[in-house]
Amino acid sequence: MTEMETGAVTDRTPDAVTDPVQVEAVVDRAAGAVVDRVTPRRGRPAQVGRPGRPVEPGPAVELTGVTKVFNPGRPDEVTALRGVDLTVGRGEFVSLIGPSGCGKSTLLRLVADLVPATGGTVRVADRSARQARRELAYGIAFQQAGLLDWRTVTRNVELPLELRGLSRRDRRTKAREMLDLVGLADFAGHYPDQLSGGMQQRVAIARALAVDPPLLLMDEPFGALDEMTRERLQDELLRICAGKGTSTVFVTHSIPEAVYLSDRVVVMSARPGRIVEIVDVALGERTEATRQSNAFFAGITRVRQALRGTSPEAPA
Ligand SMILES: Nc1ncnc2c1ncn2[C@@H]1O[C@H](COP(=O)(O)OP(=O)(O)OP(=O)(O)O)[C@@H](O)[C@H]1O
Ligand SMILES: [Mg+2]
Repeated sequence: MTEMETGAVTDRTPDAVTDPVQVEAVVDRAAGAVVDRVTPRRGRPAQVGRPGRPVEPGPAVELTGVTKVFNPGRPDEVTALRGVDLTVGRGEFVSLIGPSGCGKSTLLRLVADLVPATGGTVRVADRSARQARRELAYGIAFQQAGLLDWRTVTRNVELPLELRGLSRRDRRTKAREMLDLVGLADFAGHYPDQLSGGMQQRVAIARALAVDPPLLLMDEPFGALDEMTRERLQDELLRICAGKGTSTVFVTHSIPEAVYLSDRVVVMSARPGRIVEIVDVALGERTEATRQSNAFFAGITRVRQALRGTSPEAPA
């Protein structure tokens, strides 16, 4: 079996991997190969949309002393992360913000077990990151939409549901609901290359949310969206996460977005990425008034101040 077929985790895991389900449905750009192999898990079909998920003890994510070095010992060695300690509680919404190249995507990939840590430990829901990936314990929407070009919009959203062994009818119903949510119901039968970049990103978000994962890992998912769509999806995301008790790790370059969405904003320094400050946000329930509130602006100022001195030009 090849590395790709086994879903083995290496630094060369292709970018198109956007969801644990896609470890087995991958566009391997390096090899120029395309695999669309959906293998439903055996056993009882997973339930989707179940309210009141039993709360398991322990944090959703726990990183202890995590270091990530790419290409160790080679001339192109890069220390992407050093000494990262971070705990994300169950149901908590945590954003990562920091200069380009500071290791935000790498941190998400470590949690998702798409790259291995060089040092330290990564635990997800009291399991190893590897075990959590095997159990499809999270949904991912990454910087690139990572859609499968040969599947329609509906069938892209259905992919993780197929892996969980849901019936065709249940998959269709759930996919329609999710496409409604992201405003793409009219494009259900289109192919990804018939959509704009922002629309493709919304399909990826619909796919990540379709399985109601206990943990959501999102890497600048709203970066390509217009401001109004972005604000609407922020509110929808918060509503979904609060309703289902979802824990979320969310990467963004937008300070207002980080503050609006989060319980805590993790501010990272330029490479090698370290956590320089964790800003608590206490805005209470988000309403129409939140974006104009003094507390919101105060949160923005605090994150901006924490980010100061983290630019790549600043001394390490
Ligand atoms: N597969 C890889 N092989 C080698 N180096 C890598 C790999 N992935 C990331 N890096 C390096 O690790 C560092 C952190 O990259 P990462 O993509 O995590 O940054 P980021 O904070 O997400 O940046 P951005 O905000 O631009 O998305 C960068 O220097 C990058 O070049
Ligand atoms: Mg990134």
